Amino acid sequence: MIFGAILAGGVGSRMHMADMPKQFLPLGDKPILIHTLEKFLTCSRFETVYIGTHADWINYTEDLVGKYVPHARGRVRVVCGGENRNETIQNIIAALEADYGPDDDHIIVTHDAVRPFVTLRMLEENIDQALQWGAVDTVTPAVDTIVVSGDGATIRDIPDRKQMYQGQTPQSFRVTLLRELYRSLTEEEKGVLTDACKICVVRDYPVHLVEGSYTNLKITTPGDYKIAQAMVGGDILD
Ligand code: CTP
Repeated sequence: MIFGAILAGGVGSRMHMADMPKQFLPLGDKPILIHTLEKFLTCSRFETVYIGTHADWINYTEDLVGKYVPHARGRVRVVCGGENRNETIQNIIAALEADYGPDDDHIIVTHDAVRPFVTLRMLEENIDQALQWGAVDTVTPAVDTIVVSGDGATIRDIPDRKQMYQGQTPQSFRVTLLRELYRSLTEEEKGVLTDACKICVVRDYPVHLVEGSYTNLKITTPGDYKIAQAMVGGDILD
């Protein structure tokens, strides 16, 4: 079975602008999270779409689902997020395995709640490639030259731009693979490996690439929020 996992357990500290986590801020006529959820719901291959959200925001998230996508309520489940992004993914894996039982064929498509412009094409390609390879990342070729600096003051290296990509989401995995790789990490590794694909990379499991898009914006800062508002043609809120 194939499952969506929308990661909405963060508090949005870099947004510095609201009394609620950024995934709940309005974008046009509905919250950012609902834009993202609606994209997932257009993909009929998802058995259930899980949303991992902070414990304080579970009831609020369930109310949003009931208000904006009442017809799809049966396909959406809200669960408690974790201390960090990977813990939120692990909580969703625990919930889906409790609901459906463990199975080597389960695939999970994880996605940042704050990337509302994900497309059906990206979701479909993530599913197809995860079924084939077990681990998938969505990337765009780097447009800017990437500069490496160890000390933040001088350049240490400028890698060949043709080999550089920027990582986005969705990131998709065979559920049992990601669960076992995560369990194999030491507490110290868990502290530094904040990206699920990096867990595969450090354990030498190949991660295949799906083409993302520059429009698959991650809303991290107030500037990103303004760009997203312009993209939906809504009023720009300060
Ligand atoms: N996320 C999550 N669980 C956490 C932390 C983050 O599900 N414990 C989610 C966020 O809700 C977001 C995505 O991971 O959709 C990407 O993280 P980021 O943009 O860093 O979100 P925040 O952690 O909310 O932002 P900040 O780092 O500015 O506090």
